[in-house]
This record gives sequence, structure tokens and C-alpha cells, in this order.
Amino acid sequence: MTSALITGANKGLGYETARRLGELGWTVFLGSRDEGRGRAAAQKLAADGAHVIMVPLDVSSEKSVAGAVRLVREHTDRINVLINNAATPGGGVNPADATAKDIHAVYDTNVYGPVRVTQAFLPLLQAADSPRVVMVTGPGGSIEYVTDPGQPVSKMYELAYTSSKAALNMITVRYAQALPAIKFNAVIPGELATSRFPATDMSRHMGELTVTEGSDPIIELATRASDGPTGIFIDRLGPIAW
Ligand SMILES: NC(=O)c1ccc[n+]([C@@H]2O[C@H](COP(=O)([O-])OP(=O)(O)OC[C@H]3O[C@@H](n4cnc5c(N)ncnc54)[C@H](OP(=O)(O)O)[C@@H]3O)[C@@H](O)[C@H]2O)c1
Repeated sequence: MTSALITGANKGLGYETARRLGELGWTVFLGSRDEGRGRAAAQKLAADGAHVIMVPLDVSSEKSVAGAVRLVREHTDRINVLINNAATPGGGVNPADATAKDIHAVYDTNVYGPVRVTQAFLPLLQAADSPRVVMVTGPGGSIEYVTDPGQPVSKMYELAYTSSKAALNMITVRYAQALPAIKFNAVIPGELATSRFPATDMSRHMGELTVTEGSDPIIELATRASDGPTGIFIDRLGPIAW
């Protein structure tokens, strides 16, 4: 059995990733911080024939992450792929007004969340064949992109979300270097070169890509097993600059 745990999979890109991996015949552990929303999502996928187990999982809570490990262990002693997808956009507070508290709240989900979940699931990943971790970051995490004056993001003044994704990029690289038996890669669910991103609640449905298109690079990294890269950063069109 090939299995994946996806955080924040009750909707948006996480849900679409769960749907696509389920379609491939994988066992999908569908993480959702809200049990009701998670159950509804899992039921929908199961009705289409997917093997899905809903895992209550709030990535900002140590207790919830520990509970998720216990639940997954009731089903299996190994996980092939972990997809750290859950994130919060924060309030888009201007750097001049952003407090440490504002930033902490975003980091708790977007930075400490993937670290909590990755660390807790390392033993299950290490027990699997060709384990992979996919970190879903964002265009704001690319310093090259953000500092390009031609990009609208260079004029979107905020601190918390973009710096959380830049931190997650570095965390991905450092895990990849330290743990070569596991492939750690970062992905932008969109196209930097065309500035096209998926329409989800997080993008207020302004994106020009579908969630299927947005999840393409997530699926690519999740499904490339032994021949796959580690420590790279890609979007839908291929490798991109950090
Ligand atoms: N859409 C874009 O244009 C875009 C662009 C670049 C990067 N991304 C990245 O893509 C990923 C998925 O975003 P999306 O567009 O699919 O957004 P979305 O539809 O808003 O989904 C976000 C998911 O994260 C979950 N979540 C938030 N905080 C959580 C927590 N503490 N614990 C567990 N789950 C939590 C949400 O759960 P609830 O339903 O309970 O809120 C939801 O399931 C994110 O990492 C985002 O930064 C998206």
C-alpha cells in the first residue's frame, strides 16, 4: 500500500491532492483541524471509491499532532508521503504595524506546524520505502520573486505570510541536507512565470488556475519515488529560484 498524510486536506489544494492520490489507489490520511469538515470531505472522496481515513489534525497544536500519530498508527506503521499543505494567510498587516504576536500566530501554523508534523511523523516516514515530504510554500517565500520590482507581490506590503513561507523554504533545504534518506522538496502551487495561481478560499478565488492545475506540482513531487529529487523548489512549470 502507498500512503500519504495531507494536512489541511478538507478543502482547496489539500482536498484536491487527496482526491488525486485517492484516484491513484493510494491510502489517504486526510488531515483536517475541524472534524466535521474533515468527515464531510472524506465521505465525499470515499463515495467516489477512494480509501480515505480522516485524521483530526490542527498543526498548531502539539496535542493534536500527537493524537494524529496515534490514529495513523492504528492503521499502519509507515507513511510514504507527508504533504505539509495547511497554512493561514494571516491578516496581511503592513510591516509598520505588524506585531510579534501577529507574526507568531501565522508562524505557529505555517512554520512550526510543518516542523511539528514532520518531526512527529519521521519514524513512520523512515519505516517506508522511498519516503517523501512535500512542503507547500508560496511565491512570497521566494526572495528572488519578491524582490523583482516587476512582480505585484513586491508592492504587497506584509511580513507574516511571506516570511513564514521563506522560513519554510529554508527548513525544507535543511531537512533535505540532514536526512538524505527522505526526499524533502518545496513547491509553489502555481506558475511564477505567468503569475497564475489557483482559485481557492486563500486566494479569495481570484486565481486563474483550477485546483487541479495548482496541485500538479504537489502530485509530481509526491509521486516521484526513488528517482525523485531532494532539496529542490518547483512550481507547475518546473524548478524555480529560491
Ligand atoms: N491558493 C493560492 O493561490 C496559493 C498560492 C501559493 C501557495 N498556496 C499554499 O497552498 C496551500 C493550500 O492553500 P489553499 O489555497 O488550498 O487554501 P485554503 O483552501 O484556504 O486551504 C487551507 C487549508 O489549511 C487548513 N488550515 C489552516 N490552519 C490550519 C491549522 N492550524 N491546522 C490544520 N489545518 C489548517 C484549512 O483548514 P480550515 O478549513 O479548517 O480553515 C484548509 O484546509 C497553503 O500552504 C498555501 O499557503 C496557495
